[in-house]
Amino acid sequence: MPQILLKIKGLTKSYRLGKRAYPVLKSLDLCVPEGSFVVIMGKSGSGKTTLLNMIGLLDRFDEGSYHYQGVDIAGLDENRRCSFRNEHIGFVFQQFHLIEALSVAQNVEIPLIYHGGYSYRRRLERVKQSLDELGLADKINNYPNELSGGEQQRVSISRALVNNPDLILADEPTGALDTETGRQVITQLMNLNKQGKTVLVVTHDEEMKRYATECLRLKDGVFLKEGEA
Ligand SMILES: Nc1ncnc2c1ncn2[C@@H]1O[C@H](COP(=O)(O)OP(=O)(O)O)[C@@H](O)[C@H]1O
Ligand SMILES: [Mg+2]
Repeated sequence: MPQILLKIKGLTKSYRLGKRAYPVLKSLDLCVPEGSFVVIMGKSGSGKTTLLNMIGLLDRFDEGSYHYQGVDIAGLDENRRCSFRNEHIGFVFQQFHLIEALSVAQNVEIPLIYHGGYSYRRRLERVKQSLDELGLADKINNYPNELSGGEQQRVSISRALVNNPDLILADEPTGALDTETGRQVITQLMNLNKQGKTVLVVTHDEEMKRYATECLRLKDGVFLKEGEA
């Protein structure tokens, strides 16, 4: 039996606009085993990004519990949340979120700088290794606007990997790419999964579900049961 990486129970989140609260996630339960490739499908507005932000410790939930490797996430103060996120989780976004003014190497280096404690030599070593894994060794001194969309997404995957996290979270990673380039990105995520990373993707790309060890559907803030549309 694989170990449980993270376990969520009764997760609830509302956004407040003025005096009204709009519920977006309604008492979700989610269990992610180590080494799995979880795909969460759902239409635009179903709450996918909100859920990913909760799992990735980018935002706080209102109710429920969240344990990651047994650690009670709700009990962490802001500093601990940040260092926990930096150490355990890598992010991949639809629009890549690369910094245009920085080179590929400098973009990938960012999580190592946040982490602190690494010498420049060690950082460069890790950056090279991470870019090499994604087949981008020859792009190390380029700038994001000199790369194709697929290459930019691979740079962002290198950046997600550079701290050697256990979990990769990807928010619509193929959303800004054509079908063929999107497939290459899916293949890269699958390779990482084969190497032992747990991967959780949210998407409305039906193609992704073929690769999942578990596929869940989110609709209006709840997971649908099998067979429900
Ligand atoms: N920061 C926010 N403030 C208020 N409402 C938000 C905010 N972020 C998202 N929402 C609303 O929450 C719902 C779910 O959004 P989101 O999680 O982005 O869905 P998805 O990623 O599936 O498209 C939408 O109705 C959206 O308008
Ligand atoms: Mg979204």
